[in-house]
Amino acid sequence: MGMNETSKDFLTLDDFDVAGKTVLFRADVNSVVINGKVQMKERIVENAKTIRELSEKGAKVVILAHQGRAGGKEFLPLEQHAQLFSKLLDLTYLDDIIGPAARTAIKNLNSGEVLLLDNVRLLAEETLDKTPEEHSKSIFVQRLAPLADIYINDAFSVAHRAHASVVGFPMVLDAGIGRLMESELSALERAVHHIERPCVYVLGGVKPEEVFDIIDFAVDSRGVDYILTTGGIGNLFMCANGMIPMKVDNNLLESVSRAKRIQGRAGNKIKYPWDLAIELDGKREEIPVEQIKPNQPIYDIGHKTIEKYSEIIKNARTVIMKGPAGFYEKEGFAEGTRELFKAISSSKAFSLLGGGHTSAAISEVGIDRKEMANAHISLAGGAFLRYLLGEPLPGIEVLKIKK
Ligand code: 3PG
Repeated sequence: MGMNETSKDFLTLDDFDVAGKTVLFRADVNSVVINGKVQMKERIVENAKTIRELSEKGAKVVILAHQGRAGGKEFLPLEQHAQLFSKLLDLTYLDDIIGPAARTAIKNLNSGEVLLLDNVRLLAEETLDKTPEEHSKSIFVQRLAPLADIYINDAFSVAHRAHASVVGFPMVLDAGIGRLMESELSALERAVHHIERPCVYVLGGVKPEEVFDIIDFAVDSRGVDYILTTGGIGNLFMCANGMIPMKVDNNLLESVSRAKRIQGRAGNKIKYPWDLAIELDGKREEIPVEQIKPNQPIYDIGHKTIEKYSEIIKNARTVIMKGPAGFYEKEGFAEGTRELFKAISSSKAFSLLGGGHTSAAISEVGIDRKEMANAHISLAGGAFLRYLLGEPLPGIEVLKIKK
């Protein structure tokens, strides 16, 4: 499937003459924040490309975006995002969203100018549990929509939220998708609805609750041939199968019994590591799975596993990877994650990599993104997961061309 099939369901930038028009642009620049500092730049870099295209075509661009959740530690104004954006394009930042200052600034925009408004989640209306129709009647939408001509959503990663800035505006304005959204949708469609086999899922990371749903789904899917487990989820499944000893406390009880139920129907589809890396005297040491002691910390997959998994990946036509293979941030334990990325980059398979940490891990283990040219690296977390599971995303549904 190429870009065209996705384009048939949505209007893209190619369908609008944006010169002189005011475009409300939903971006997702939501980032991890460490010590008050906004970390992730990939979303900003990718959104900036679409914004630049709009600006070069003469649009007046008004960016709507969020950061964190009200009351949370990562809930910040968008000032730092403006600074990061300003390295890539000229823009003005305003700490207002729907007040007189914002509305005057929007009205005064000239062709090609870009304005970033403040965190849309400062408005309580943004996140209310409402239908698109109801959101379109919010003060937020009612104040800004009359000042704009077109709504463009480039925020695939927030498309699973039925929020005002995501579903409200498309109800009252001509609406389409941005370039980042276009590439995310076309890659996901290819990996999910037009699967070329053999298809391999490589699942790791430390959040079992997210990965469980995918494993559950992939076990039943006739299009999926193998599920290679790594990281915390692999350990959990091995524990459930009695392959490694683990003291199961109450927190883990539910996960372990879910893993047992899934494995019961999985046959040979799920693969487990043969060897694992532990720390001995401050150094990496690899041991066969059966030699793991009760509750011994496991930091990576071992080389025999890397070799066998890489072989399967190299023979695949589709690879979907989520979650690192080990504790790659810890010195000496990035090998599993790095080697699996390398197997993906040298495989002829079309690959889809997703989940915020997976994307960050690529650079952090020292892989140049250019080497991963055959892979689509999704910048989405929750939206990526839901799409994989075949769930409709409210932010996407409202943008579909009515046929
Ligand atoms: C994300 O980072 O996944 C999106 O920006 C959505 O954020 P949320 O989970 O706070 O809605």
